[in-house]
Order: sequence, then structure tokens, then C-alpha cells
Amino acid sequence: MNKINAVITGVGGYVPDYILTNKELETIVDTTSDWILERTGIQERRILKGENLGSSFMATKAVEELLAKTNTNPLDIDLIICSTTTPDFVFPATANLVSDDIGAKNAFSFDMQAACSGFLYAMTVGSHFIEGGRYKKVIVVGADKMSSIVDYTDRTTCIIFGDGAAAVLLEADDSNENLGFQDAFLRVDGAGWKHLHQKAGGSRRPPSIETIEKREHFVYQEGQPVFKNAVTNMADAAALVMERNNLKGDDVAFLVPHQANKRIIDATANRMGVGHEKVMLNIQKYGNTTNATLGLCLKDYESRLKKGDNIIFAAFGGGFTWGATYWKWAYNGNEIK
Ligand code: UT7
Repeated sequence: MNKINAVITGVGGYVPDYILTNKELETIVDTTSDWILERTGIQERRILKGENLGSSFMATKAVEELLAKTNTNPLDIDLIICSTTTPDFVFPATANLVSDDIGAKNAFSFDMQAACSGFLYAMTVGSHFIEGGRYKKVIVVGADKMSSIVDYTDRTTCIIFGDGAAAVLLEADDSNENLGFQDAFLRVDGAGWKHLHQKAGGSRRPPSIETIEKREHFVYQEGQPVFKNAVTNMADAAALVMERNNLKGDDVAFLVPHQANKRIIDATANRMGVGHEKVMLNIQKYGNTTNATLGLCLKDYESRLKKGDNIIFAAFGGGFTWGATYWKWAYNGNEIK
């Protein structure tokens, strides 16, 4: 029997309509459009407006697009993994809401929490479910309504984040072409939590008037230590995955990096020896959408991806979590309508 490979067979994505520009941020906090662009590469980000709309709203839109593009019947889906840091509820899982929205009656589902590395972790976990042989179709969807936990009086964080969702379909492939998931290097340093977290709202510090008054329900980030760790670890992870798969810069068709800061992305590409024309970049229009960044990059660059392309994904996030994965792309993106 041939080895079963997990291949990506489609991409879907969704960003809300409302565009929060750097210029508008100038009217909200003490910042300038030029500072934001120069220090992060971001020009604008999307914000989900409307009552009672959470991350599942965007996740469902992304998955609906994915199902339509891949002509997939939701009843054929075996598993939905939703990576999110801003779930609709503490429980149940956001993945369950998506599964109900799309009518995935024969699936099971769960959420994954690895902050900005969530989609990278979830794609890897999803691919292992398929390689194990019992599951044929797995949806991985990353979704975050970061605007629900961003403090719009904190100029060091509110300029960075945006809202969005993106999804991929993973399918079993026993064609012997050796496409799809190849390798993953994933790591965590739990001691890093101090530098990037949400102080209240969990079981350690449940919501109270005090936690609200102290503004503890928002993202707390110490930018410098996070930046330094992100640059080193994302670049090291990507270089390691390339090395142990005998890949040189020229062998890589695209780097798909987490979109946290253009300077972190540039450092990773330089370390890998990958030209900037091969780096997927959309931070300028979406900012950091946390769990949606990698999938939204795939959506934006899908038409340029070719069967057999070597793709390196790399991410770093709160936790600290980080890693890099190596995939062989499984279809010609320019043939997708
Ligand atoms: O995706 C999850 C992981 N997160 C990340 O990877 C984020 C990593 N960190 C970063 O991207 C950067 O650290 C930031 C974009 C958050 C900040 O950029 P920075 O170049 O590291 O700035 P800084 O924190 O060193 O601050 C430099 C100066 C400070 O002023 P002083 O003390 O030198 O007078 C800040 O107060 O820039 C000031 N500053 C701002 N000025 C204008 C900080 N934020 C702003 C702002 N507008 N929005």
C-alpha cells in the first residue's frame, strides 16, 4: 500500500469590510501613519463590526468559500480544527459553531490555542490525522477577532492587529507523488507567557470589576522581547527545516511567514537566503490577524502556486510558540476559478 500523504487541496478566506487605516488610528492614539508603516509595514487592517459577531462568523465565511471552491460536501468532512485566540465563548469550541453553521454532521471538531502559531500547529496536527489513515478530509480554519481584545488606547498594540479568517482543506493522497506535508519543527517556551498574554478572563483571574477597571481583558505585549524572540526563533526554525530537507534558497518557491511585523519577515527571508519576490506578504492590508495570517497569504497568492512547489511556512507567537513546516504544493493555483 502506498504511503498516505496529507495535501492541501483548497484555500478559502474572509476579511470584514471595514478598513481601519493608519490615518484613522492617528485620530485615536498618539501615533503617525509613517511610524506605523516604517516600524511594522502595516498600512491598514480590517475590523469586524456588528452586534454578536465573533470569530466563528468569519471562520464560517472562510470555510464556506473553501467548500464552494473545492466542490466539497460538508457531510464528507471528518474533522474541523479551528485555531483561534479569540473564541466566541470560553466554551464550547468555536470549531463546533463552524461545524454547525456548515452542516458538517459527520465530523468531530476542536479548537487549538497556540496564539500566532496556531494555524501552523493546526495544519501539522490535521495532516497527522490524515497520515494515520482513518481520516480523509480535514478542515483547518484560523480565525481571530483581535479587535475584541485590543486596547484602542494602547498605541503599542492597537496599530498591529486586525480581524480575519482563512481555511485550508487537507485531503488524503496515496498517489505516490509525495506531495503535501513533508516536515515540521514546532517548539514552545512556556516561560515566554509573561511578555505576551491577556491578564484576566481565564480561571486564574476571572472577570471582575477590578479586572475591567485595570484594563486586563486586553492584549498585553512587551514589544521588544517579543520582537527579538520572534526574529531569532522564526528564522532559526525555517533555516533548520530547510537544512534537514536539503533545501537551498533557490529550491524554495515561497516562504509563507506569519504577518506580525515586516522587519521580522525580512529577517527570516534573509536568513533562509530566499529572495523577497518569493515571500508572501499582505501585512500592509490586513495587519496581524493572528491565526488567519498564513491562510490569508495562501489565498492571496494561490494563483501563483504550482504543483510541486516547495513551500516553507514559519510563525512565532504568544506562548512563546513557534516553528516552521515544509509542504509540497499539490495543485496549480492558476487553474482555480
Ligand atoms: O504576532 C505575535 C507576536 N508579536 C510580534 O511579533 C510583535 C513584535 N514586536 C514588534 O513588532 C515591535 O516591537 C512593535 C511594533 C510592537 C514596536 O516597535 P519597536 O520598534 O519595537 O518600538 P519600541 O517598542 O522599541 O518603541 C520605540 C519608541 C518608543 O518611544 P521612546 O521610548 O523611544 O520615546 C515608543 O513609545 O516608539 C514609541 N512608540 C510609538 N510611537 C508612535 C511605540 N508605539 C508607537 C506608535 N506610534 N504606535
